[in-house]
Amino acid sequence: MRTPPDAMPQVVFPGGERWPALGLGTWRMGETRTARGAEVAALRAALDIGWRVIDTAEMYGEGGAEEVVGEALAGALASGTVARDDVFVVSKVYPHHASRAGLLAACERSRRRLRLDTIDLYLLHWRGSVPLAETVAGLAELQRRGWIRRWGVSNFDVDDMEELFALRGAADANLGCATNQVYYSLATRGVEFDLLPWMRERGLPLMAYCPIGQGALAGAKAPPALRNVAARHGATPVQVALAALLAEGGVMAIPKAARETHLRENWQALALGGALDADDRAALDRAFPRPERKQPLAMT
Ligand SMILES: NC(=O)c1ccc[n+]([C@@H]2O[C@H](COP(=O)([O-])OP(=O)(O)OC[C@H]3O[C@@H](n4cnc5c(N)ncnc54)[C@H](OP(=O)(O)O)[C@@H]3O)[C@@H](O)[C@H]2O)c1
Repeated sequence: MRTPPDAMPQVVFPGGERWPALGLGTWRMGETRTARGAEVAALRAALDIGWRVIDTAEMYGEGGAEEVVGEALAGALASGTVARDDVFVVSKVYPHHASRAGLLAACERSRRRLRLDTIDLYLLHWRGSVPLAETVAGLAELQRRGWIRRWGVSNFDVDDMEELFALRGAADANLGCATNQVYYSLATRGVEFDLLPWMRERGLPLMAYCPIGQGALAGAKAPPALRNVAARHGATPVQVALAALLAEGGVMAIPKAARETHLRENWQALALGGALDADDRAALDRAFPRPERKQPLAMT
């Protein structure tokens, strides 16, 4: 595993592993055969631009998105654009596959589609009916086999995290839960009240999904306050929306983009981070108030 350049905003996982604070989402990819070529090309372009964290799931396109990631990565590795250790691949297991036997079978299918011996981070997509203790034991077995390096969860609120961390091994810095991936955008800030501080106290980075509100914080559709802050910096609303999340600290945002112009624009948010000043923060807080009380965890 290589360390990203120091100047780049990063998150630190328990145990000390560092990755860029921007990763690439892949939801809605791999759903049709006709789009496959363009999607693979988009992921190759993303790797060329510098994206190194890729988020996918067995659910996306029922395995199709993992196949797109696998094909793009295989091409990039073969051409020498990236080395395997330069890339951090995240996938997720359906809750109804999160039993001990189900995990073995699901992870094997994901590894095959991704064309990887080892998945870097494997998340329980959301809580289902399999007891958490069984899922944690199954994930530990996948680690022992070398099929996954780290594991984590998604769509867990504070009470779920408390329950998880009471389980044997879940709080271990190197082999325990590495992250919780949840809905978090400038327009949906509920996690700032309790979940984000809870995770920060335990050194767990939060992975923010839908960080640009599925496009609602982009371009002319973006709320005026966001557009004003962006104009002040010669930036775009999406760049400000992403930079504002990263500025909270301990957050990795994973915007999805299938268009190369979007991939380039979003990557530049990393450079904007430090430029947002107190006036910008105040303007954004007025338009998108910080939560003052507990809010139900947002989900898609
Ligand atoms: N764990 C979970 O339960 C969960 C749930 C939802 C999502 N996720 C993950 O999080 C990722 C991100 O969430 P998301 O895909 O739902 O929403 P998102 O990243 O907030 O928004 C994606 C949409 O925004 C557009 N977009 C991206 N950059 C843009 C730009 N610069 N200007 C204008 N439009 C832009 C994309 O268009 P193009 O594609 O056309 O470029 C796409 O339609 C997912 O892809 C997935 O990997 C996880």
